[in-house]
Amino acid sequence: MNKISLIGAGNIGTILAYSIARKNLGDIVLVDVVDGLAEGKCLDLGQSLPIDKLNLKILGTDDISKIHDSDVIIITAGIARKPGMSRDDLIETNFKIMQNIGIAIKDFSPNSFVICITNPLDAMVWALKEISGLKKNSIIGMAGILDSSRFKYFLGKELNIAFENIQTIVLGGHGDTMVPLLDYTTISGIPIKNFIDNKRISLEKINQIIERTRNGGGEVVSLLKDSSAFYSPACSAVEMLESYIFDQRKILPCSAYLQGEYGVSDLFVGVPVIIGRKGIEEIIELDLTDDIHKEFNKSVNSVDNLVKKCKKLLV
Ligand code: NAI
Ligand code: 2OP
Repeated sequence: MNKISLIGAGNIGTILAYSIARKNLGDIVLVDVVDGLAEGKCLDLGQSLPIDKLNLKILGTDDISKIHDSDVIIITAGIARKPGMSRDDLIETNFKIMQNIGIAIKDFSPNSFVICITNPLDAMVWALKEISGLKKNSIIGMAGILDSSRFKYFLGKELNIAFENIQTIVLGGHGDTMVPLLDYTTISGIPIKNFIDNKRISLEKINQIIERTRNGGGEVVSLLKDSSAFYSPACSAVEMLESYIFDQRKILPCSAYLQGEYGVSDLFVGVPVIIGRKGIEEIIELDLTDDIHKEFNKSVNSVDNLVKKCKKLLV
């Protein structure tokens, strides 16, 4: 069995534990700083296993050393957005949390594949790499799958076409400047442009959907008021986890450490990558039009500004 450690037993961590257990993907260690929280949730989840004839091991704890020798670690520890807050408002609090977790990974589980979900995503995963010393293929941020899924969901509903038929990619940082790629959006292999030309959907409507996708996280926050999205982020991370543990080599948009790709260095930014048992096995470079490249660079700049803040917090 794979050992999968989940750091953070809040909304996303709990759905992750539930999904991983139901899919029987591995033994689970759930960690949270709040006394009894992870232990209580795991006791409850454990008591559900006999019903579905599942035999995995589940441990809930506030002792982070229990993550030792994990195959995969997924991090959701930190504070989430409240209405009126941007992802970037979380930086100082969540940076300190990444410091503690990064040191724990270095001490107890330096050979794991690490998926970070905590916001502001691209900056937090950068901080975690810096502190943990993990190699660039072993650490990755979850955002692009979620952002792309939101885009697919809105498009599928508008066109009344099965979501599974829609392929798309959202590039860039996980923020308001993310870049949905229309040139790489197809429906069962048919370019979205054909649907526009045939008047199945207008460009104006597509632009509204792009805006709604960019604001997808904020829209959920403004409805929930005291938390942010959790089902769709957890499902997105499970897709990354499965691609890793089953060596599926799926191409997925994720926040990856760039060293010259797309003209970017020493930053994590959302790009298509291949995830297999060696972690990030390849970064795929796409041809971008000048306009899209400008949008991408704007998004990279906003990530860069957050990383500059992290660099100040590091010293
Ligand atoms: P939550 O508030 O429900 O859970 C966070 C948990 O982390 C809490 O139980 C807290 O006690 C725990 N925690 C804090 N410090 C810790 C530490 N040092 N060690 C272990 N546990 C610790 O938050 P939720 O909804 O689960 O979201 C988690 C994070 O994911 C937030 O930062 C949120 O903004 C982010 N997020 C990212 C998305 C993405 O696409 N990357 C999408 C949605 C949320
Ligand atoms: C989301 O996109 C808030 O990052 C979080 O739902």
